[in-house]
Amino acid sequence: MDHDLKIPKHVAFIMDGNGRWAKAKGLPRTLGHKAGTENIRKIIAYAKEKGISHLTFYAFSTENWKRPQDEIQALMGLLRQYLAREVDTFNREGVRLCTIGDLEPFHPELKKAIESAKDKTRHNSEVTVIIALNYGARQEILRGVNRLLSSGRSPVTEEDLSGVLDTGEFPDPDLMIRTSGELRLSNFLLWQLAYAELIFTPEYWPDFNEVSFEKALEEYTRRDRRFGGINNV
Ligand code: FPP
Repeated sequence: MDHDLKIPKHVAFIMDGNGRWAKAKGLPRTLGHKAGTENIRKIIAYAKEKGISHLTFYAFSTENWKRPQDEIQALMGLLRQYLAREVDTFNREGVRLCTIGDLEPFHPELKKAIESAKDKTRHNSEVTVIIALNYGARQEILRGVNRLLSSGRSPVTEEDLSGVLDTGEFPDPDLMIRTSGELRLSNFLLWQLAYAELIFTPEYWPDFNEVSFEKALEEYTRRDRRFGGINNV
């Protein structure tokens, strides 16, 4: 029941299964990624309606560079189109766009487009949408540790490390949802997910819709109820 839902502040998504979604329909993998990209809009709108303030989407991992060149190019093209198309919607809906991950290896034009989209939406405050691009949690932690080492800080605290991660300004996710039935974290937000609820659903990402999201929130609510008593002792 809707009014009983416990609403997380921050939900992180591993958007898995675009390729299998396409294959099951006899379509090329790239059309799976296209459908997956279009799905993000629906999920942001639903999250906004529910009052979720932060969303993270794993769009491109440090490991994804190992994919065939044409698939990488297709993903870059989708990202470019996505940024060009969505900025107006973001501004209309109060969405602030942020990224985590190392943008260095991206084409200069794409980097410019990413920075420009972030800049144009930076004053929005309804929902913060964080896209993970060339993101790997171990690499992020190492970047942070090296920053702390060069600042000469010792000993370091949890707050110190949290603060130098790419996610420094965001609250940790309360809930992580991975689609397509894979039961792994795949180098995603390893530090930040320490206390998160994890939900794995068999649906492929392009099929994950408002109803699926609502079910995940119901599960999140049930888990909190079950453990709340014990935690409160
Ligand atoms: C997993 O599907 C998905 C990815 C490689 C990343 C998700 C990317 C998108 C939704 C599109 C790009 C995003 C933006 C913001 C433009 P998979 O290919 O691993 O699927 P499979 O496991 O079924 O092969």
